[in-house]
Amino acid sequence: MNALHYGLTPKMKPISPRKSALVAALDIGSSKVACLIARLRPHPPQQVLTRRSHAIEVVGFGHAAARGTKAGGVINLAQAEDAIRQAVDGAERMASVEIESVVLSVSAGRLASELFAAEINIAGAVSESDIARVLGASHRHSLRDGRAVLHSLPIGYSINGGNGIRDPRGMLGERFGVDMHVATTDVAAARNLMLAVERCHLDVEAMVAGPYVSALSVLADDEADLGAAVVDMGAGTTTLAVFLGGRFIHSDGFALGGLNVTLDIARGLNASVADAERIKTFYGSVLIGGSDERDMITVPATGEDEREQAQFVPRSALAHIVRPRVEEILEMVRDRLAASSFAAEPRGRVILTGGASQMTGLSEPAARILGRPVRFGRPLGISGLPDAAKGAAFAAATGLLVYPQAAHLEYFEARSKRYLTSGTGGGYIARVGQWLRESF
Ligand SMILES: Nc1ncnc2c1ncn2[C@@H]1O[C@H](COP(=O)(O)OP(=O)(O)OP(=O)(O)O)[C@@H](O)[C@H]1O
Ligand SMILES: [Mg+2]
Repeated sequence: MNALHYGLTPKMKPISPRKSALVAALDIGSSKVACLIARLRPHPPQQVLTRRSHAIEVVGFGHAAARGTKAGGVINLAQAEDAIRQAVDGAERMASVEIESVVLSVSAGRLASELFAAEINIAGAVSESDIARVLGASHRHSLRDGRAVLHSLPIGYSINGGNGIRDPRGMLGERFGVDMHVATTDVAAARNLMLAVERCHLDVEAMVAGPYVSALSVLADDEADLGAAVVDMGAGTTTLAVFLGGRFIHSDGFALGGLNVTLDIARGLNASVADAERIKTFYGSVLIGGSDERDMITVPATGEDEREQAQFVPRSALAHIVRPRVEEILEMVRDRLAASSFAAEPRGRVILTGGASQMTGLSEPAARILGRPVRFGRPLGISGLPDAAKGAAFAAATGLLVYPQAAHLEYFEARSKRYLTSGTGGGYIARVGQWLRESF
């Protein structure tokens, strides 16, 4: 019973390389909800971003301050629904279309990855049915209870023990194997995000790991091939996706982010959270000693006590508050990467993205703590993006627009084909109904 498709989230039908499509993306973050609507048009093979079969043109964008969410998960359905409606309405108005379904990202619920290997005996050359058989065998593994599958990606085949084979069709051997990367999150976190979206009368076409789609947005081909980790530093979460040989091979995440820095500032300077957020984005820096002791910032009174007055504190005091928390987050990223297969790629670089990666002076502690080359990533190769959505905070939202072009890489067993027939056959209710029945 507890086979791999247990807790499978909805999966979209991959976009045909020859067809245009309208795609709607919804990123429910801890600080903002963003909705993007884009037209995907097939384009001829190009020199850069060669894995993309379609040009992406944004035609609608809406966003709202997040409400009712914490660490990427829903804690108040009605409030989350309000924020989603506001973001979706904005995008629909700009695009002059009404959307029925969205591709949804997940950063909540302790993202994690497992690798499953399976091997079967074959007679002679590898056939399509051998491939189907070995993929099916890889799905017989059991998952921990309460986990929902976000991705199920074959990352390489082996013949008679020799691995790293991309396209095994027609190759000769007796033993044929596959390595499967399965990315999961907590079923409850996934289900409640879906519920919030459904309350807005929207279908969830697919549910995908936030850091994976951030990587689809910010990663260059060479980086994915040579080995890279994309770290999405959000407000309530820091999530990561590791790529090797062009494939997504690992994901992880933890519930710490830019909001924790803001709260530290609010506590340390006795400021309101709103003022602490403003002080952080204007003056926040991890550089100690760089700023002059006489360089003062104004911290407004919290307003709780009338006798209280605005205070003036040196900028360096702010850096002393910010730095330890930023270092803690980077150390956790380092430890998670060290515990993953990325440890075997000491030269693989780290690409930092997400709103909290914009902290002034981050590159020095990041390079030092992570011990790898570091660069900062923003959405690549997407036209029509409004200025407000061009930054690192929109890596996941824009990556959701790329995902339909990568959906064909996913493998789900025939039994779950109903999930793939988006809009036809079983239809949405059947697909989601099935998922919920299997999950609970
Ligand atoms: N210039 C800046 N300097 C420092 N921090 C910044 C800056 N701009 C934005 N941030 C921080 O980035 C965070 C928001 O990032 P982002 O929009 O990626 O998060 P999110 O997607 O809402 O949250 P999550 O992905 O964790 O659910 C906030 O904590 C914000 O303070
Ligand atoms: Mg985010």
